[in-house]
Amino acid sequence: MRLAFGTFLGLPDPLKFMGDADYVRTRWLADPSAAFGAEMAGELVGTNFATRWGSVGFFGPLTIHPNLWDRGIAQQLLVPTMELFDAWGIRHAGLFTFASSTKHVRLYQKFGFWPRFLTSLMDLPVGAEPASAFIQFTRFSELSAGEKQISLQACRELTNSIYEGLDVEREIRAVDDQQLGDTVLTWDGATLAGFAVCHVGAGTEAGSEKCYTKFGAVRSGPAAAQEFRSLLDVCRQFALSCEAKTLAAGVNLARLDAYREMLQAGFRTTTQGVAMQRNADPGYNRPDVFLLDDWR
Ligand SMILES: CC(C)(COP(=O)(O)OP(=O)(O)OC[C@H]1O[C@@H](n2cnc3c(N)ncnc32)[C@H](O)[C@@H]1OP(=O)(O)O)[C@@H](O)C(=O)NCCC(=O)NCCS
Repeated sequence: MRLAFGTFLGLPDPLKFMGDADYVRTRWLADPSAAFGAEMAGELVGTNFATRWGSVGFFGPLTIHPNLWDRGIAQQLLVPTMELFDAWGIRHAGLFTFASSTKHVRLYQKFGFWPRFLTSLMDLPVGAEPASAFIQFTRFSELSAGEKQISLQACRELTNSIYEGLDVEREIRAVDDQQLGDTVLTWDGATLAGFAVCHVGAGTEAGSEKCYTKFGAVRSGPAAAQEFRSLLDVCRQFALSCEAKTLAAGVNLARLDAYREMLQAGFRTTTQGVAMQRNADPGYNRPDVFLLDDWR
């Protein structure tokens, strides 16, 4: 995976791509049945990882050994990936890719994915912001088994209100089981107002000195913008408590108000790519949705 991306991006040492952040091990452990390998003469020459968030599915990282590019291997790997989406009953499918690469866009178009909005991968230096009032939040890892069940149900109910069937239990459980970071939950009385699944440090999708909010969302409605601001702040507080120097998160620019809130909070775009969505279905990439994710 590192060799393929590092080569594509022209890094002097391709194997240093993404430093000590890790996507392969964590996604493999989260769901080995959703990992695909391409073999040639007994050697692994490519891999792809599918993710199921209830009715939503995305895939990546998809990588082929650079010596074997343009021989149709990625296309072969995508066939079982699409079959798995069908078996899962995925309604909204997508991926994140390089907006400037005609190769990537053409490859995925063959499978019915169309380029839609830019997706910004953003960073916030956590020490630079003045300390705001502390916002109460719960850490999923500190809950009892029973409370975890109740919280998972509340998270499911919240995401379902944004997009029918959207459910990120897999991410919450992966972070908890593999100790990749934590899921922080914010409350409006007894009602879940928002939550964010955060990876922290080396060996996770964040990497050293970073906290990466892989998924975060607040309940839709008139208070959504305010709740989103609070959630961003809670993520920052959590990152600080983990001694991370940077908070990373991504947003699809179809969620324009969420993007604006992130800019307002001090986030800056480090990389931008494009979300490609099957049949150009908007899914939850709508202006009224305050949600963090980037399918990277
Ligand atoms: C992107 C990647 C997975 C593609 O794998 P691959 O095995 O080379 O892809 P395939 O050969 O199956 O398909 C590539 C298609 O793009 C076409 N293509 C190649 N260069 C192209 C270009 N500059 N413009 C348009 N199409 C191009 C190929 O001709 C082929 O289409 P065809 O079969 O109709 O001829 C591989 O290059 C890789 O690992 N890249 C680095 C990591 C990466 O970017 N991963 C994907 C992140 S979303």
